[in-house]
Amino acid sequence: MPSLLTAEQLQSRFQEAFGRTATVLARAPGRVNLIGEHTDYNEGFVLPAAITRETRMLVAPRDDGRVQLSALDLGRQTTFDLADGTVTPSREERWSNYVRGVAAGLLKAGYRLRGMDVLMQGDVPIGAGLSSSAAVEMAAVQAFSAVGDLTVPPEQAARIGQQAEHAFVGTNCGLMDQLASALGQPDHVLLIDCRDLSFQPVPVPPAAAILIADTAVRRQLASSAYNERRAQCEAAAAALGVPSLRDATLQMLDAAHLEPLIDKRARHIIGEDDRVLECVAVLRAGNLAAAGRLMDASHCSLRDLYEVSSVELNTMVELLREQPGCYGARLTGAGFGGCAVALMAAGALEAAIPIVAEAYQSRTNLTPALYPTRAAAGASFRRL
Ligand code: GLA
Repeated sequence: MPSLLTAEQLQSRFQEAFGRTATVLARAPGRVNLIGEHTDYNEGFVLPAAITRETRMLVAPRDDGRVQLSALDLGRQTTFDLADGTVTPSREERWSNYVRGVAAGLLKAGYRLRGMDVLMQGDVPIGAGLSSSAAVEMAAVQAFSAVGDLTVPPEQAARIGQQAEHAFVGTNCGLMDQLASALGQPDHVLLIDCRDLSFQPVPVPPAAAILIADTAVRRQLASSAYNERRAQCEAAAAALGVPSLRDATLQMLDAAHLEPLIDKRARHIIGEDDRVLECVAVLRAGNLAAAGRLMDASHCSLRDLYEVSSVELNTMVELLREQPGCYGARLTGAGFGGCAVALMAAGALEAAIPIVAEAYQSRTNLTPALYPTRAAAGASFRRL
């Protein structure tokens, strides 16, 4: 897993790459979703937090309208031009399409962009379901904002990141990841209503700890399976005669007798929206046991109805649940590999981590990564 360089180390790498000194440090975190999976593109509710892993961009402005990108963790460089007002995806340097897509979106929204040299580095694992791509997108918005003196509202930044995924990457994602990365608040999860994008910070009870458990399986075919789920939800909403599954109820679903696969997908979304709201209520009451039970139920629904779990995710979730002090555990993010999240008693982490790591390894032959995280602040920049 990548680790973060210090600001000084980054500055000297920037010097090496571009022969000058950076003037801005932009950053944006990854996210973990406590509950509310696949609900965002159904205009429903989600409960993510920004995490203490982030993408950093060290930046200096350029006056020739060019953007020079150097990705330290990948050992790759690329350049693109803002001058003619359009930016297109790169076939060769696909990793850069998150930044290119953000540039294209900002231009389309009417912002006047300044060129820049950018050195990227971070410690959000790639393809692990912790939104490394949203972190890059939201850091890019911060970088363009800093060098161009722009003020981009966080909701618009999130939409521009989402557009970059749709048009430049090919994932028809919702808005949760970008919103969490843009709006995160220390020690709070965010209840986001993905219909009107209003949000409420919900304090994480001090007795609770959030543990991320990476299965070490990278998501495969995630884009096509994800887009397929989204299309199935749209088909369900159309068959039920509602604008989106946010507006559907279990009674409506029971009465409609949809084809079994579509019925299962819709059943997950409708149940999951209810679980998010219930989870917020029990967290506010400090009832961690009840919050954990809702997370468990969410996992079962994702496994059996939405069918986005995997053997490794199920194994990890089972092992986490067996640990004393674990309130609940579930897959987090899109699924198909990546990470699980557990809600734990803060004092139980130390004992649980090595036990789960060892048991997971012996059952799967894979080396997992388990690390506690805290809810962190959303994207920002500072001048150096
Ligand atoms: C991915 C997408 C999000 C969301 C989750 C599933 O992370 O980018 O928009 O749909 O999957 O909840």
